[in-house]
Amino acid sequence: MVTVKKVVYVGEILKTLERVPSGIQGLDEIIGGGFLPGRVYLITGPPGSGKTTIGVQFLVEGAKNGDKGTFISLVENPKIIVQDMLRYNFGLLGYLQSKTITFHDLGSRLLRTEYRLTWNELFNTILQIIDEEGAKRVVIDSFTSMEHLVKDPDNKRWALGRFIRALQELEITTLITSEMLQGDAYTDEHYLTDGVIVIHHFMRNYQMVRAIQVLKMHGVPHDSNMKRVRFTDDGVRVYQEAPF
Ligand SMILES: Nc1ncnc2c1ncn2[C@@H]1O[C@H](COP(=O)(O)OP(=O)(O)O)[C@@H](O)[C@H]1O
Ligand SMILES: [Mg+2]
Repeated sequence: MVTVKKVVYVGEILKTLERVPSGIQGLDEIIGGGFLPGRVYLITGPPGSGKTTIGVQFLVEGAKNGDKGTFISLVENPKIIVQDMLRYNFGLLGYLQSKTITFHDLGSRLLRTEYRLTWNELFNTILQIIDEEGAKRVVIDSFTSMEHLVKDPDNKRWALGRFIRALQELEITTLITSEMLQGDAYTDEHYLTDGVIVIHHFMRNYQMVRAIQVLKMHGVPHDSNMKRVRFTDDGVRVYQEAPF
């Protein structure tokens, strides 16, 4: 009974706030209706947990309303990502053809050994792409290993803080993904972003069970309990039930 009351109460306050629907079925329910516009969120989890898929779903959701989306790949080849994502039913191909969603390959530049970018140069390049594309939604995938690829690894907190400020001022909603290798190792992204969503996986009776947890979400009363996650033909989906 208490739970029902709480949900109604949360809904009442949040109605007044503009929301950015996540595009992940079931996720908006646990973050009080969606992301906040102009905020920067971190999606973190182990390899293969669905971070890239969630990012693409987020861009597709915006594209449905004509909002331009930009996917900036820092490591993987975007061609491979697109190939994998075209298997889902979310209609990515049409948005690529209309250029409502664009993919950018920064990885090839970062992996070049002869010249290393500083954090600031990397972030300024990203801001330039966002500006040129006129993007409303941005995905930066993935932040992991960047420390080894930039020239000034120690400047991260400062440069990231500045970058997040810049995104907030542009009123762009951004998802940053990162690999979570150790559950208790928090990085600058955890502290500096407006919200953190963690994807977990467990082995149970020789079956992989996936779950999602909202670790932090500024300005939004949210449900922090773990929720079951499954991959479907429509992408990642969150269920309003505990993983076990
Ligand atoms: N239909 C499906 N059923 C189960 N798992 C799937 C399905 N489609 C994709 N996957 C899983 O999705 C994972 C890839 O998701 P991805 O978004 O690339 O993860 P990440 O970016 O976190 O590495 C693969 O490990 C694969 O196991
Ligand atoms: Mg990925």
